[in-house]
Amino acid sequence: MSSKITIIGAGSVGSTIAYTLSGEDIASEIVMIDINKEKVEGEVMDIEQGTCFRDPVSIVAGEYEDAKDSDIVIITSGIARKPGQTRIELTQTNVNILKQITPEIVKAAPKALYIIVSNPVDIMTYVFTKISGLPENQIIGSGTILDSARLRCGLSEHFKVAQRNIHAYVFGEHGDTSFIPWSTARIAGVNVDDYYEMMPGFEKLDKEAMLTYVQKSGGKIIANKGATFYAVTRGVCRLCSILMSASESVTTVSSMMHGEYGIEDVCLSTLALVGPKGIHSKIPMTLTEEEVEKLKISADALKSVIAQIEL
Ligand SMILES: NC(=O)c1ccc[n+]([C@@H]2O[C@H](COP(=O)([O-])OP(=O)(O)OC[C@H]3O[C@@H](n4cnc5c(N)ncnc54)[C@H](O)[C@@H]3O)[C@@H](O)[C@H]2O)c1
Repeated sequence: MSSKITIIGAGSVGSTIAYTLSGEDIASEIVMIDINKEKVEGEVMDIEQGTCFRDPVSIVAGEYEDAKDSDIVIITSGIARKPGQTRIELTQTNVNILKQITPEIVKAAPKALYIIVSNPVDIMTYVFTKISGLPENQIIGSGTILDSARLRCGLSEHFKVAQRNIHAYVFGEHGDTSFIPWSTARIAGVNVDDYYEMMPGFEKLDKEAMLTYVQKSGGKIIANKGATFYAVTRGVCRLCSILMSASESVTTVSSMMHGEYGIEDVCLSTLALVGPKGIHSKIPMTLTEEEVEKLKISADALKSVIAQIEL
């Protein structure tokens, strides 16, 4: 694959994405941009010096104009929460960074597909959608890709079956109001509840505990090692590969809602068909009434944050 990918933010997430891309065949050109020039130059040198055993790939620390003709731009820039800072204050700080970056990167790469990773990712995706002026299909929030991956990991451990045989998703906010639409969760085409019934020898699945595992994994990893970056990197690199493929794939990403499930003017994750033109469409998967209600609670929580920030 011969694509150009620009990564904004050379912190733990941005650098791990660049490093992972440098070992795969998704990108032939990688540009990294960060306000911290020493950091980004150090990361680029370290990554570049490990690329001699693969086909040539270009990795540079650049400025916004170097993002010209990028196929994909990944936004990971942001500031971590400081002691005493509220979530809303942090959100406004990261929104302000995004507002600073957006005109410059969009001017340089108006045709790129944008993957938003910075948190709170649904709010950042919403703000980027509002201020970038780009068509919505070009804007993909990484949303609950990571949460759905955590769910598949947890279910795979519980049912002792390969993750590729599990089709189960996390919907809504990438955060506290996310939920698992269990009615849609399948193992090799079999509903999770039926699978448990028909397969002897498994402990009954504690669905609440599984949701807690999904929601609290990020906090636990941050408490243990300071940041989370490996699993999200795998999700983002997979998304890059999907965007560079010949046909669409199904995944949970955050994007603008336009009346689906009765929700509009907010970005959150549901199932979407994603491919070379970005978001092709959302998949109107049938949910139970209770699940639709949970999605609306998630949308309302995000809308209340949007109401408190300065766009
Ligand atoms: N969506 C997800 O699933 C997910 C998962 C993990 C982390 N994240 C988020 O990704 C973001 C990055 O996390 P991290 O651990 O890499 O943080 P980090 O602090 O290690 O890196 C952030 C980088 O952004 C840079 N930056 C700040 N302002 C900038 C600006 N104006 N222009 C360019 N660069 C700028 C900083 O210099 C720093 O290098 C955070 O918001 C984090 O919460 C999202």
